[in-house]
Amino acid sequence: MHYADLLIHSARMMATLKGHSDSPAVGEKMSEIGLIENGAVAIREGKIIAVGTTEEVRKACLGPETKEISAEGKVVTPGFVDPHTHVLYGGSRENELSLKLKGVPYLDILKQGGGILSTVRSTKQASDEEIKTQTNRRLRTMLSFGTTTAEVKSGYGLTVEEELRALRLIHELDKEQAVDLVPTFMGAHAVPAGYSEEEFTDYVIDEMLPKAAAEGLAEFCDVFCEPGVFSLESSERILVKAQQLNLKLKMHADELESAGGAELAAKLGVVSADHLLKVSEAGIAALAQKGVIAALLPATSFNLAKNSYAPAREMVRAGVPIALATDSNPGSSPTESMPLVLTIACLYLRLTPEEALAGATINAAHAIGRADQVGSLEVGKKGDVLILDIPNLNYLPYHFGNNPVEKVIKGGKLVW
Ligand code: NIG
Ligand code: FE
Repeated sequence: MHYADLLIHSARMMATLKGHSDSPAVGEKMSEIGLIENGAVAIREGKIIAVGTTEEVRKACLGPETKEISAEGKVVTPGFVDPHTHVLYGGSRENELSLKLKGVPYLDILKQGGGILSTVRSTKQASDEEIKTQTNRRLRTMLSFGTTTAEVKSGYGLTVEEELRALRLIHELDKEQAVDLVPTFMGAHAVPAGYSEEEFTDYVIDEMLPKAAAEGLAEFCDVFCEPGVFSLESSERILVKAQQLNLKLKMHADELESAGGAELAAKLGVVSADHLLKVSEAGIAALAQKGVIAALLPATSFNLAKNSYAPAREMVRAGVPIALATDSNPGSSPTESMPLVLTIACLYLRLTPEEALAGATINAAHAIGRADQVGSLEVGKKGDVLILDIPNLNYLPYHFGNNPVEKVIKGGKLVW
């Protein structure tokens, strides 16, 4: 055994999330978070080389050059994985707050040319440097709240050039800052003026997808499947084409209306179906049967202020694996905070803190195809570790609106 470069020790409680890397945690297994008291984790050349009690890990890999960090009295977890964000964009939409407070529905704002289409305009107006500066700031905030890996979607371009630009900028940002980014193509995010839904669907399939795939710019393809945006038929056509081009699939499904989105997600065997506020019973059964991950976005429900949340307990009971994400975007979820998501998930999705933590780490890693690398503290995985300044796990959702993250270690380096 080699000596560690970094050894984090004396954690009052360390949640390893071990044992779920081959397949996501479901049902009662979502509560098995691999707790170790007086825990320690050792990292060498960016990867975890030992996990156990402080005594065990120190004995095995404490060398003369090893740097040590004490987590005495604190909780240690894997870095959070945020598997659904739209964090790359120009501008902001606080001007829509008054409409929202008057009760104007989200899709009505979009139909009036606001919402996503407003961000499409402000993104187009911004230079590459401006978009990167703004997005970097958001990624830095995400990191400060413990997110060490995040999925990022395109979708504020809606032309071939602008969508490819967004995906290229995601790749550049991935290299230039600490949070690891997983790029998703989401050209089918809204229908721009001048197109029918069918015409724009054809454009996505014939022009955008082949170019995005040819440049190797995206790992996943996502669609906003929702009555009034992209129908089941259009969504299926787009996702089938994406599958032919070797992209993995995701879907925004059953967010605002129950319309068979989850059933389609299961039929296509997507990796994750996201939102699911209005998922039907048959939809839940279909997701469970196909092992589709439900990526739930309770901060979006909270921010849309409709007092309506995804039926998470029914999904856990049915054996659907649950992941949690911020949905960070300028309209329906302008936040970068996974701790806030955990609080809302416990209070309104009625997840236990253990289930919520599994959703924000290992199951989230599965939702973006990274469970072999991140999401748990296990030998061979990236040294992505959080030290939370809290005495126990209940404290994480309990004390809300603040930042419990004291230190963020990314690939064995202290980055926050
Ligand atoms: O997941 N539902 C569609 N897309 C985003 C919202 C994007 C926006 O409003 O800018 C979502 O909520
Ligand atoms: Fe989204």
